Order: sequence, then C-alpha cells, then structure tokens
Amino acid sequence: MMLAEWLRKEAGLSGTKIVCAEGDCGACTVLRAFPRPGAAFVAGAAFEYEAMNSCIATVAQMDGAHIVTVEGMQRGNELSPAQHAMRVCHASQCGYCTPGFVMALSGMLEKHAQADERMAMNYLTGNLCRCTGYAPIIQAALTVRATEQHSVALRYSDMNAVAESITATEQSMRVSHDGVELFAPATLREAVTFAALHPGFRVIGAATDLGVQINKGKPMPAALLSLHLVPELYATKVSRAGATFGARVTLAEVRRVSEDVAPEFAQFLNLFASPQIKNVATLVGNIANASPIGDTLPFLLIAGGTVHVAGRPGGKGPIRKRSIAMTELYLGYKQLALEPGEIITHVSFQRTPSREVLRLCKVSQRKDLDISAVSGAFAVTLGTGRRGKSAPCVTSARIAYGGVAATPVRMPDAEQALCGELTTERIESVAHLIAGSIAPISDVRGSGAYRRVTAAYIFRRFGNEVLRG
Ligand SMILES: Cc1cc2nc3c(=O)[nH]c(=O)nc-3n(C[C@H](O)[C@H](O)[C@H](O)COP(=O)(O)OP(=O)(O)OC[C@H]3O[C@@H](n4cnc5c(N)ncnc54)[C@H](O)[C@@H]3O)c2cc1C
Ligand code: FES
Ligand code: FES
Repeated sequence: MMLAEWLRKEAGLSGTKIVCAEGDCGACTVLRAFPRPGAAFVAGAAFEYEAMNSCIATVAQMDGAHIVTVEGMQRGNELSPAQHAMRVCHASQCGYCTPGFVMALSGMLEKHAQADERMAMNYLTGNLCRCTGYAPIIQAALTVRATEQHSVALRYSDMNAVAESITATEQSMRVSHDGVELFAPATLREAVTFAALHPGFRVIGAATDLGVQINKGKPMPAALLSLHLVPELYATKVSRAGATFGARVTLAEVRRVSEDVAPEFAQFLNLFASPQIKNVATLVGNIANASPIGDTLPFLLIAGGTVHVAGRPGGKGPIRKRSIAMTELYLGYKQLALEPGEIITHVSFQRTPSREVLRLCKVSQRKDLDISAVSGAFAVTLGTGRRGKSAPCVTSARIAYGGVAATPVRMPDAEQALCGELTTERIESVAHLIAGSIAPISDVRGSGAYRRVTAAYIFRRFGNEVLRG
C-alpha cells in the first residue's frame, strides 16, 4: 500500500490527493522527516522536513518517519503562510492540486525564508495545475515568507516524537501480506542473508521507479528487501580522488556533494525529476534500474563510476564484497552483472580534473520533469596544438550516451578518433562515426532516426564549444 492511499483511507486525511499516482503531478505531496538510522538521540535535535510524493512511497517504508500532511499546516483558524499566499494570489480554482502546491511551498519555506523566481520555479517543478494557470501560483511562491510560528520543524519536533522515531529506525522490520514479504533489516548482514535465502527477491529503494510499476499493477516478486534501516548505506565519503555514496544516499544529497566534486554533474541534476523525487530517490536506484535512459549513467560511464556490491552465498559465512566498473555493469536491456543474492551497497566516481572539459546533455520533450530521448556525456583533456597552429589538441577523450541502445554505452572508437588536433573536420567526422555506430529504437520519445541525428548533434555542439574555447 502506498502512503497516499493509507493517509486517505486509513488515517482519514483526505487533504492529500491522488491524481496521477506516478510521481508526476505533486497533488500527493507531504512533508517527511526521517532521522538517519544509527543516529544517537541528542536533546534538542529537530526533525528536518522535506517534500515527497506520497503516491509512490510504500507505507511500510515510512516506519520511523514523521509525516506532516496539509491538515497539519493550519494553526487553529490561522492559515499557514503558503496557504495564505495561495489564497490572496487567487492561485486555486478547482483546488485539486492546491494541497500539493501548499506542501511544496511549505517544503521550500523549511529551507529558505523567501524565494526568488528561479528558486520558486525549481520548487514547483513537481506540481501540475490544470486550471488556474501558473502565474498566480508563482506569484504566491514569490510573495510567501517563512515565519517562526509556522515552521514545521519548530512546531512538530517534539522531543518524544524525535526519540520515538530514532528508536523505530533501530529495529528490523518485517511485513507480510497476501503472499508478499517486505523485510527491512537494520544491518547489512541481515540484508545479504535475506537476499541469499530468497531467490528472485528485489531491493526496494525509495520506490520512485518501483512505486510507479506497483501502481500500474506490474507483477512484483514475493520478497522485497528495503535497505532504509541500514545505517552504513547512508554514508557519503569525499576525497581528493572522488566521492562514494551509500545505496540510501538521495539524489538531493548527491547533487549537493557534487557541487565540489563534479560541478557539471551537480548542474545536470537540476534537470533530474523534481525536488519531491530527488529528496528521496537514490543514485543507486537510478543505476540498478538499468534503464538505457537513466540520466546519471552516461556521466558515471565517463567518470570512472564503480559500483560496490555485497552478497553472502548460501546465507552463511562472511559477507563477500566486490567492485564492478560501470563500463562492465550492463550486460543487456535491464540486465546487470550481479550474481544472485548480490545487492549494490555503494557507488563511487572520480573527481572531475580541473584541466578537463566535461559536459552533460539531456534531450527531452520538456525541459523539466521529463524523461530523456537521448543523453550524452563528453569529456576531453587538452594539450597544446602543433607548433604554429592555434587549434587545441585533444590528448584524451571519453564519450558515453544514453537512449541509443539497449544499455547506456561508451564509444571507444569515437573517443580514439577525437584525439589529435581539434578541427571542424575532425568534429564532423566523429559526429558521423557516432551516428553510424548506433541503431536506436523508435518509441514515444523519438524515432530511431531522430535519436541518431540528435546524438550526432549534441556531440557536434560539444566539439564546437571546445574548439571555440
Ligand atoms: C516523476 C518522476 C520523474 C523522474 N525523473 C527522472 C529523470 O529525470 N531521470 C531519470 O534518470 N530518472 C527519473 N525518474 C526515475 C527514478 O526517479 C530514478 O531512476 C531514481 O534514481 C530511482 O531511485 P529509487 O531509490 O527510487 O529506486 P527504486 O524505484 O526503489 O528502485 C529502482 C530499481 O533499482 C533496484 N535497486 C534499488 N536499490 C538497489 C540496490 N541497493 N541494489 C540492487 N538493486 C537496487 C530496484 O530493485 C529497482 O529495480 C523519475 C521518476 C519519477 C516517478
Ligand atoms: S498523485 Fe500525482 S504525484 Fe502523486
Ligand atoms: S486549481 Fe484545479 S488543478 Fe489546480
């Protein structure tokens, strides 16, 4: 059962709406605080609330979380700042989307006292309205101000509630219903043991992919393994060489850390889904979902991405850990090079060297909250050109694409062909090589011919940018 359904049917809180049930419209937005498992209770510690879509989040995974719905925003007869702003700006008509907008704006106010237009648009990326028009809603977002008395963290961070949440995250959880078992262990050992003893099990991350599949009635395995209570999987490590993220680290956190480690990747993640999705979805989920159009994959393929996996064959003995380079991970459409019973525990990638030019590109029908038709990742290191020539010289190149084959792909031939003095002719010949070496499928996002032309085009654009300096 999804959280939105539970709120409406079991808790009687029907302010939260279900419209698309796919994470696209934001009508089901709630605020969630979830203490990091393994965190010790500190007196005075406050919950930190973030917006999320409740229609694609399983209710079982909310154990230990504190959820605030639109019903929790008003104080007595006094509307919250977001509710008041929506009202005075006439930003609601049929009202079905309104609770979601209120909660998205309230999530913004938990972090920022007020917003400029760019911030407002970003925080509203995950919310759709079909009747009012966006101008009054954006106006509401620009006029709203955070106030201390309406701060959700200050209102709801009751010491007992925080302590109770932390205690809940310390214990493994097992839920069985209708022949389906969901197990959330508190240790990695329990996780890999369960995986070994339940052939056909599936890991359930934040369920931003899986939740959509569940809502569409796609068959699910009888054993689901949730890693949300395993403390070590929340770790982020940054070094001079790069960054490593545990399987439970969210894309919002990855984006924040990448600002230093891989700034182009951080920038690119602005185009990934919406705040509601990024606040919960994991980088490892994007990798393990193994979609040829997973947006992070071309970058990881050129940035020395490596996944670290763990298993416990037969459910006995020590945990066996190994690493797989991202370039070796995808064997075929949605097929990973994991052994039965293995799970991904971490992913790492290299820091972008300052001398490298790295660009990431996503082509989709809409700029925001859309899935790529084609994506590309390009990186070159430049040396000095031949004496007397001003053209830059490419000393090494890395190129990867999504959306042009059954898996995301590196292009070693094109990389080799790009090395040498960079000229318009070389760029053109590599663009032809790329177009000629792929045979993309046609689907709702674009025809095979469109994808081939687009793959060449985005490379050409990158090449010309480097050429112009
Ligand atoms: C509205 C919306 C917008 C989206 N926008 C984008 C977008 O712009 N770009 C994009 O690329 N994707 C997008 N997605 C897809 C999705 O959000 C991402 O793929 C996300 O990273 C999945 O992470 P998750 O933790 O929710 O994974 P889940 O849905 O929980 O799992 C995804 C898959 O990974 C497997 N898995 C998860 N963790 C592990 C593990 N530790 N070990 C082994 N297997 C594991 C699961 O079994 C499942 O098969 C969007 C989804 C929605 C609903
Ligand atoms: S109902 Fe549309 S995002 Fe949840
Ligand atoms: S006011 Fe009707 S959908 Fe937004």
